[in-house]
Parts: sequence; C-alpha cells; structure tokens
Amino acid sequence: MKPSILVVDDEKNTRELMSRALSDDYAVTTAADAELALEALKADPSIVLLLSDIRMPGASGMELLKAAKAMRPQLACILLTAYGTVDQAVEAMKDGADDFIMKPVNLDQLEARVAKAMETSALKSEVAALRSQLNEKYGLENITGESDAMKRVFHLVRQAAPTDATVLIQGPSGTGKELVAHAIHSLSPRASGPFIAVQCGALPDTLLESELFGHEKGAFTGAIARQIGRFEAADHGTIFLDEISEISPATQVKLLRALETRTFTRLGGTEAIKTDIRIVAATNRDLRAYVDEGKFREDLFYRLNVVDITLPPLRERPGDIPLLVSRFLDEFSAKKGGLVTGITPAAMKYLEAWRWPGNVRELRNTIEKMVVLSSGGKLDVEDVPEQLRAAGNPSGFSSAGTLGETEKAKILATLKETGGNRTQAAKLLGISRRTIYRKLDEYAAEGEKI
Ligand SMILES: Nc1ncnc2c1ncn2[C@@H]1O[C@H](COP(=O)(O)OP(=O)(O)OP(=O)(O)O)[C@@H](O)[C@H]1O
Ligand SMILES: [Mg+2]
Repeated sequence: MKPSILVVDDEKNTRELMSRALSDDYAVTTAADAELALEALKADPSIVLLLSDIRMPGASGMELLKAAKAMRPQLACILLTAYGTVDQAVEAMKDGADDFIMKPVNLDQLEARVAKAMETSALKSEVAALRSQLNEKYGLENITGESDAMKRVFHLVRQAAPTDATVLIQGPSGTGKELVAHAIHSLSPRASGPFIAVQCGALPDTLLESELFGHEKGAFTGAIARQIGRFEAADHGTIFLDEISEISPATQVKLLRALETRTFTRLGGTEAIKTDIRIVAATNRDLRAYVDEGKFREDLFYRLNVVDITLPPLRERPGDIPLLVSRFLDEFSAKKGGLVTGITPAAMKYLEAWRWPGNVRELRNTIEKMVVLSSGGKLDVEDVPEQLRAAGNPSGFSSAGTLGETEKAKILATLKETGGNRTQAAKLLGISRRTIYRKLDEYAAEGEKI
C-alpha cells in the first residue's frame, strides 16, 4: 500500500502538477483550500503528510498547519512558499513544519523533499511506538506488592505521575527505585516523550556536568564538538537522576541553579537554555543524614524532595515475598519451557525467613538461579541455596556476647542491610535517629569503620 499524502493549493494547475509527480510513489488526495483540507484529514486517517501552499484565499497554510498538527501531532508537513512568504515559512518551521519548498516547484526536488519528510515521520512514529511499548513494560502492573507500604507507594505514584512535581525516591539497593521512576514517567502526560536516566555516581565532576548540561566546542580538552546534554535530550520528557547523593558540592550548586531558574548553560557556553523536563531523583543513601553531615546541600534536598517516595527494605514487608516469588517463578520458568511448576511450602518458608540484604534484586536473582538449576517440577528445600538454609533460624543473632556487643552487632548489621541509610536503620530497630547517630559515633570512636 502506498502512503497517503494530502496536497493543498488554490491553483488547480499546481495541484495537478504535484499530484502527477508524486502519484507513482504515493496515494495523493488534493484540496483547494484549508477548510477542505481539514475535512479530508478528518475523513482519511491514513494521510501521513501534508503539502500545502502558504498563501491561499481563506485560511492560510500557516493556520492549516497549526490546526492539522493539533488534530494529528505525528503528521509530517511541508509548506510551499513564494518570494513574499519566506519569512512566514521560517516561522512555520517553529510551529512544527518539517520543511518548506520554494515556488515555482522543481519536481525532482519535490520528490526528494517529500521522501525525506516521510522518512522523518516514519522514524517519529517508530519511536512513538517503541516508547508506548516501553511504557507498557513499565506500568504499575510491573511492580509487585500488596503490603501496606507498597500500597502507599502505588498511591503516591498515581498521585504524583500526572503532575510535574519533582519526586525523590529513597530506599535501599534493589528495592525497585528505578521501576518506580519508570512508572511515574509512563503514567504521566510525558509518557510519549523521552525517559533519560543519568547515573550520577558513575562519572567524575566535569564529565557529569557535561553529561547533564552539555558542552560547547573547546569547553575542555577533548571537547572537539558541541554536544547537547541530558537536560536537553530529555526535553518534553523525564530526567531520572539516579544516585543523586553522589554528586559533588560544585555540581550540586549548578544543579540547584538549573532547578530554580529552569534554565542552564552548556559548559563553556553563554546561551541560557530552557527545557521542559520533569525531574525524578533517587538514592539508596540516607539523604537527610547527608544534609545533617554537610555532604548534601539542604536547599537542593528540599528542591528535590517535593514528593517523597520511600521504598522499604523487603524484610520489612515479608508479606510481599510469596507474591514476588510466584511472579519471578512464572517469569523464569517460562524461559525454561514451563518445566518448573511451583514451589513447596517448606521451600517458601526459607525464602520468607531470609533477611534479603539485597532486597527484591537478590530475591529475583535467587529464584532465577533456583529455576536454572532445577530439574523440573516443584522447587523444594534442596533447591534453596545453601546460604539460606544454613541461616535456618530466622532470628539470626547468636546468644553469645554481652548485651552491648549484641546491640552493636545488631545495629551494624541493620545499617549494612539498609545500605548505610541511618534513618531507615533507626526505624527498623525502633530507636530514634538521634540514638543511632550517638551509637554510631561511639562505635566509630572504638575504631569501627562506618
Ligand atoms: N516490587 C517489585 N516487583 C517486581 N520486581 C521488582 C520489584 N522491586 C524490584 N524489582 C526488580 O528488582 C530489580 C532491582 O530493581 P531496581 O533496579 O528498580 O532497584 P533500585 O532500587 O533502583 O536498586 P539500586 O539502588 O541498586 O539501583 C529489578 O530487576 C526490578 O525489576
Ligand atoms: Mg537503581
């Protein structure tokens, strides 16, 4: 089937000339004015490209462009311009025209430009289709959980997603922060725009700044060409600043300024650039504690922490374990041709008793390993990794040692489990933040590395 094109011009000759030139490769419809053109667009959803004169009696090609784009944002548009309307054509490019062609029309040029616009438009719809597939993959259905804590998370995601509010996602490693960030984007009006993730901890200072804001040619050694940053790439979409606690004080200042003014400059540049982005940040550290310790700017913390979503460690919501197990079992068993059919209650007990320091990620990896190593049927106790079986007694702590030693061991173990998140550890232990700080200072003074 040929792709459909709509040709709009008040001159019958021009219409026919273009129609003939294009009809080898395209199904061409024609209209004599803007009004008829809009009707044709409404009647025929298969039209992918609009080719219109600018100056026509009645509504102009510019007005037609706007109305057509509002009706069908993916529509490719080329405007035909005569000498008097070049300025308007330039203006039209800003309104979403893909190209313009000078009149009188050179027919070879016409075919080439139409082909090029078609290509761009095909790419655009391909990208849009890919994005909607991704968004399906990253909806809330992909986050498993029915504990109160997770219900709260779902509720917050649903509330925050439709807004442009900045979200800070906190929680220990492997609790699903990235999944939540994706879900917020997928459920937002920005879903058809890009989702751009930046691992802030992975790059040294200058590189991170250049990654975020871009740079001009010559901004630093090795900057051989202008490069746009992630803030620009994420225009009309969401930028996900992962491991936000790891950015240096200097970069924190620049990020704060960018968030406050909603503008930034490329490294080595002077032009103030404005982009339309939604910010989601995440950390597995206790950011509040970083603020208290002077490692993270308080003003930036508040800028980021507009909506605060905290994912609890898995062992705080053991009720979610069977659900997650069954989900991951389905997932990995399917890859093995459905050979694994379930799990025995005895094996499940061990999974429920384990403390899961690596949280859902660890659980997922464990199930994958169990399924891969299993010879089929139901997973049973002997399929449970040795480490989990050895832990056996879920209380976990030996009765040897003084009360003080037991307390210290428990506090340090909990802290390790929360990835160093003191607030979280204090909550788990049922003590105040102040107490845990005091204890940790004591242990540090005893030479403990914290
Ligand atoms: N509630 C959940 N339901 C289903 N899968 C989950 C859930 N939480 C986490 N996962 C899975 O666990 C793995 C880790 O999740 P994710 O990468 O989102 O964690 P994270 O909090 O970003 O960890 P880190 O701090 O290490 O970056 C992924 O494979 C993710 O799909
Ligand atoms: Mg992550």
